Amino acid sequence: MDDDKPTGDLTLRTMAMPADTNASGDIFGGWVLSQMDLAGGISAGQRAEGRVVTIAVDKMKFIRPVHVGDVLCVYAQVVHVGNSSMEIKLESWALRQRYGHREKVTEAIFTMVAVDDDGKPRPVPKRD
Ligand SMILES: CC(C)(COP(=O)(O)OP(=O)(O)OC[C@H]1O[C@@H](n2cnc3c(N)ncnc32)[C@H](O)[C@@H]1OP(=O)(O)O)[C@@H](O)C(=O)NCCC(=O)NCCS
Repeated sequence: MDDDKPTGDLTLRTMAMPADTNASGDIFGGWVLSQMDLAGGISAGQRAEGRVVTIAVDKMKFIRPVHVGDVLCVYAQVVHVGNSSMEIKLESWALRQRYGHREKVTEAIFTMVAVDDDGKPRPVPKRD
């Protein structure tokens, strides 16, 4: 089943800390989103062999809250390569209280664009 097991490569792991909480004590959605952006940048940067930027975030879904002490694991998979753009499927999973039950907490499709030194789109290198 889709929610039993992560898809993609484990690209980033970090711990949710008290400074990242909102007034209700849950972790800010923006913090989780930024971890996904980092993981998307790593994955796209490897595929594009260089600098990339985020141009769009689609189908962002916050499925479950993240709590202080959870280990956030972000999985990334390049699902489409265009000319300069790449779609990266990202899933975040929380390891509850460092070692407990693993749950999918977010998912989204990030579109990243390969750019040159001037920040202009450049082609993603072809692969067989
Ligand atoms: C990314 C950027 C360089 C693209 O420049 P641009 O002149 O709009 O480039 P283009 O119109 O040629 O589009 C480049 C690619 O992005 C795709 N694209 C453009 N808008 C898109 C959108 N809203 N969603 C998905 N893909 C999009 C195009 O289809 C094209 O893909 P392709 O080359 O694979 O065919 C420019 O928009 C930019 O610098 N954006 C800011 C990036 C940034 O700072 N990100 C961090 C945000 S805090």
